[in-house]
Amino acid sequence: MKKIGTIERYQEFLPKIREDFIISLNEGNTPLILAESLPKIINKKNLKLYYKFEGLNPTGSFKDRGMTLAISKAFENGAKAVICASTGNTSASAAAYSSRCGLRCYVLIPEGKIAKGKLLQAYRYGAKVIMVKGNFDQALQIAKELSKNEGIELVNSINPYRIEGQKTASYEIIDDLGEAPDYHVLPVGNAGNITAYWRGYKEYNSIGKSKKLPKMLGFQAEGSAPLVKNKIIDKPETIATAIRIGNPASWNGAITARNESGGLIDSVSDLEITYAYKFLAEKEGIFAEPASAASVAGVIKLANNGYFKEESIIVMTLTGSGLKDPDFALSFDDKIEVVDANYNSVKSILKG
Ligand code: F0G
Repeated sequence: MKKIGTIERYQEFLPKIREDFIISLNEGNTPLILAESLPKIINKKNLKLYYKFEGLNPTGSFKDRGMTLAISKAFENGAKAVICASTGNTSASAAAYSSRCGLRCYVLIPEGKIAKGKLLQAYRYGAKVIMVKGNFDQALQIAKELSKNEGIELVNSINPYRIEGQKTASYEIIDDLGEAPDYHVLPVGNAGNITAYWRGYKEYNSIGKSKKLPKMLGFQAEGSAPLVKNKIIDKPETIATAIRIGNPASWNGAITARNESGGLIDSVSDLEITYAYKFLAEKEGIFAEPASAASVAGVIKLANNGYFKEESIIVMTLTGSGLKDPDFALSFDDKIEVVDANYNSVKSILKG
């Protein structure tokens, strides 16, 4: 059977991995979905907007694109164990790919600050889950040291294979649109993804697959916006726990992507993220996690400020699935009704 994951699909642009060592769950090839309602609420007829929905990857986030490479390489190199710090999605992905090839997987997560679905994934895929009484930045520091001293492969995005794999999302967008978009928008946490997308766009452009390059627009959560404030945030806070990061590992990559592309890195408030999160589900039929909604919140903010003047194509990455965070999904006022099991009780609830 033909394999169709990231590595096989784009092997000519990726580091070589011997076929017997490829660990794949058929990741990538996610849909580019036309926004139906967003142009209406921002009242901009000059914009064509798309969602690149990465929540449809095998473990429900974009991390799978790079994890297939990082784990395959670790496996090929004879590693016995891998380690990562994570706000949740990296750990879910690392655990899944490790389980497929018998690698021991250690995940360090900030206690109480990861979405329940992500915790369950890492746990059920069989990783050793270690809760750290601190934040992601502290956990990453420990993971880096353990990797160096104990000979365990680090599979955070500092691992070069992660970024290599993640850049394939840009290839897919150009393959789908036949050209690069004018703007590419994505949430920024540890800043690996914006670094990867920019690399992907530049590489495809350099071999003539696109004529233009997009402006890269990154959005951090207001309480976790070190790149916007240009300083490390010791105690990052946001409801979007996936991007609750105060000292991004790929800081320079993000700044380079912004500067070379002529884009920007800005922040959005938790309120704006929450609005976009609800909007996506209730008006677009797309259930993405809170961090993903930062892309959409960012576009709404910029559009309202008159940023997009010309006819433009805009792609927003929706990085993970809304199913990962049931607690946040159920935290709103519109409560679920419980009624007696008869016709009239149910009918009394209908609005017509
Ligand atoms: N969106 C989601 C859903 C994420 O899980 C992450 C990062 C990001 C956006 C930001 O991407 O770090 O490349 O800038 N999650 C990491 C993790 C940190 O551990 O799962 P980034």
